[in-house]
Amino acid sequence: MTHTGRHFLQIPGPTNCPDEVLRAISQPTIDHRGPEFQELGSHLVEAIKPVFGTTNPVVIYPASGTGAWEAALVNTLSPGDRVLCFETGHFATLWQDMATRLGLEVDFVPGDWRHGVDPEVVREKLAADTGHAVKAVCCVHNETSTGVTSRIGEVRQAIDAAGHPALLLVDTISSLGSIDYRHDEWGVDVTVSGSQKGLMLPPGLSFNAVSDKALRARESATLPRSFWDWGPILESNSRGFWPYTPATNLLYGLKVALRMLDDEGLPQVFARHQRHAAATRAAVRGWGLEVLALDEREYSGALTAILLPDGHDADTVRRIILERFDMSLGAGLGKVAGKVFRIGHLGHFNDLTLAGTLSGVQLGLKLAGVPIDESGLQQALDVLEQP
Ligand SMILES: Cc1ncc(COP(=O)(O)O)c(C=O)c1O
Repeated sequence: MTHTGRHFLQIPGPTNCPDEVLRAISQPTIDHRGPEFQELGSHLVEAIKPVFGTTNPVVIYPASGTGAWEAALVNTLSPGDRVLCFETGHFATLWQDMATRLGLEVDFVPGDWRHGVDPEVVREKLAADTGHAVKAVCCVHNETSTGVTSRIGEVRQAIDAAGHPALLLVDTISSLGSIDYRHDEWGVDVTVSGSQKGLMLPPGLSFNAVSDKALRARESATLPRSFWDWGPILESNSRGFWPYTPATNLLYGLKVALRMLDDEGLPQVFARHQRHAAATRAAVRGWGLEVLALDEREYSGALTAILLPDGHDADTVRRIILERFDMSLGAGLGKVAGKVFRIGHLGHFNDLTLAGTLSGVQLGLKLAGVPIDESGLQQALDVLEQP
């Protein structure tokens, strides 16, 4: 089938890139050791900080988010160190798997993929660890596979309540620039992120925001590290450069994307995401379907995962929507494969993008024979009618 108009890329990342960002990326590549680049590099290492809610350094890698996961671990930990991880979904599972393969001892707290990290379990686990064997607590802020957002501020309080010195490492790959996040205020030691979601850039950049405590931990951490080592990068960054060839053109895009977020204002960006998430949930409930997230305190502002009734295959719904309406939706991953599909409502997005997205979903559900109440779309529009 020939499709006309723009493809709807409504997976929960990579997200749609604004034209301004794409135009910036298409500029000629410059000498990454010259004065023009130095100006760009010096600007970016400062301009990136507010989006993390930090005044501390943010390391920018030419890598996908997985690289930044590894960087967080190898810069702060040593072989055999114990880390506390939580099975909130597919990405938390992959991160703990990486930690195991790197030679760390992982305590992986089982979960049902419908809830976030339970701060009370954090407190109990750490309070019981009187010998302080646990060196780091790893949490995925927004589980992209489930649409569940963990309450990182409360996790911080739990660590403090237990009087435990463990580092707090947080993955914000699908929350940064979409959901309220505060690296400094929440005492996070390493915040991991990526370019391809709330930052509205293509894939290819990833980040580690680092606390002073994390920088101190690096001094005694002995997991092997070379490319990921914060030390040479921060030293080079202090002069506006990188120790190797940075992703010059993506950095042009980053400059524009950060300016766009700043122009809108981060509180407004977060409120916009929450409003679109609420409208999406109104549609889901109107259709008579279930949102995967069970605790309303943990609903994601960035994406919504929708559970299909038994006997209906989520991948069939997605295939019909792609073929008929040229819209990509997120597949169910890992344990929820085939059972859920995910609507990304993050990044460069507005009311009518959501209305179009939900129209396509409603049509696709109907065509796939999923029994739904067609008032779902109207319920979302009723939410959007409010300012
Ligand atoms: C929460 C989360 N963590 C980690 C990753 C892995 O990042 P990447 O695919 O950029 O390596 C993703 C990717 O979607 C993610 O959503």
